[in-house]
Amino acid sequence: MKAIAVRPGHASSVHLAELPKPRVDDIPGGRGVLVRVLKVGVDATDREINDALYGNAPPGYDFLVLGHESFGIVEEVGANVRHVKPGDYVTCTVRRPGGSIYDKIGRSDITSEEVYYERGINLLHGFLTEHYVDDLEFVVRMPVGLKHLHVLAEPMSCAAKAVQQAYEAQKRLQVWDPKLAFVTGAGQIGLLSTLILRLRGLEVFTFARGLAPCLKSEIVEGMGARYVSTKQKTLKQLVGEVGKPDLIIEATGSSEIAFGAMEVLGHNGVEVWTSITGGQRRTDVPSDHVNLNWVLGNKLLLGSVNANRRHFELGIADLALGEVTYPGVIERILTNPVAGIGNFKEMMRLLVEDKDALKVYVDVAEG
Ligand code: BGC
Ligand code: ZN
Repeated sequence: MKAIAVRPGHASSVHLAELPKPRVDDIPGGRGVLVRVLKVGVDATDREINDALYGNAPPGYDFLVLGHESFGIVEEVGANVRHVKPGDYVTCTVRRPGGSIYDKIGRSDITSEEVYYERGINLLHGFLTEHYVDDLEFVVRMPVGLKHLHVLAEPMSCAAKAVQQAYEAQKRLQVWDPKLAFVTGAGQIGLLSTLILRLRGLEVFTFARGLAPCLKSEIVEGMGARYVSTKQKTLKQLVGEVGKPDLIIEATGSSEIAFGAMEVLGHNGVEVWTSITGGQRRTDVPSDHVNLNWVLGNKLLLGSVNANRRHFELGIADLALGEVTYPGVIERILTNPVAGIGNFKEMMRLLVEDKDALKVYVDVAEG
């Protein structure tokens, strides 16, 4: 079967690879789920792997199959699989356990090991192919009524984890009741975080570069949040109007903005960083000022990566709630389908060149 792959360490090496079709028995103990891939989303991570900024091939291979945002249909299950059956729609988690205590309790998303195993990213092949097989623990059912939101399940799981971790961590404050949130960045993680926070009843301001009206501003407003173009207003100017936020979700991919946002967070607040910034940039930070205010204000900075099965389930539940609360809005994120695995060059071109392509995904098969 065909797959879209890169040669890790070699920039712009995206190409078609050939793999044998997996079998349900490749996973021992009757725990295998064989999935026919329908759609796979791609994001900045895939672009940066193709730029050779990170990513490693599985042992014994000189290529890595891309794709970590999967949507497919179950074709066959092992004898001990109960939670899905042939014909069900599913997505799949990305990270696989290493050897730490966190990995052993099903929390590979917070592994304490330096090396991590992620399908389509590091040391494991991804989903940008025709079939995959995985252990039942990692395959998550998607309700048929959310079929049209397909590849958003994985990015949604990352947003769900970011917000959930913020609430978990803020239990340190005993009575934290956030009212005002800033979301920096209106890519998929920024928009999906905006959705989750709106569903929790917060007033949300979402920042992006472009001037409104534009697709991003329409989606943000469609979710009952406010869109702010940084061309018209800085974070500090908005604070002058609405006060300091209790919560900031940072999702721009710019470390400069990630640090800059630290200057506007309110007392007892939490800022969550979600971007993988693969570059080498350095920025000038007013470090004394930030340090002083973070100490005097008991503020928290939290990094959040990846997601486990529970975050996928939380995210899928919020996609369902989001769909009935703001009907038809979420699917507007899904802007750029690419027809078939064979169109891998067009897929990468959209990712690299098309600044308006909010979400690029490959239509692998009908179903
Ligand atoms: C993926 C995560 C992954 C992270 C780091 C993101 O693009 O969505 O699942 O953990 O990259 O590799
Ligand atoms: Zn991703």
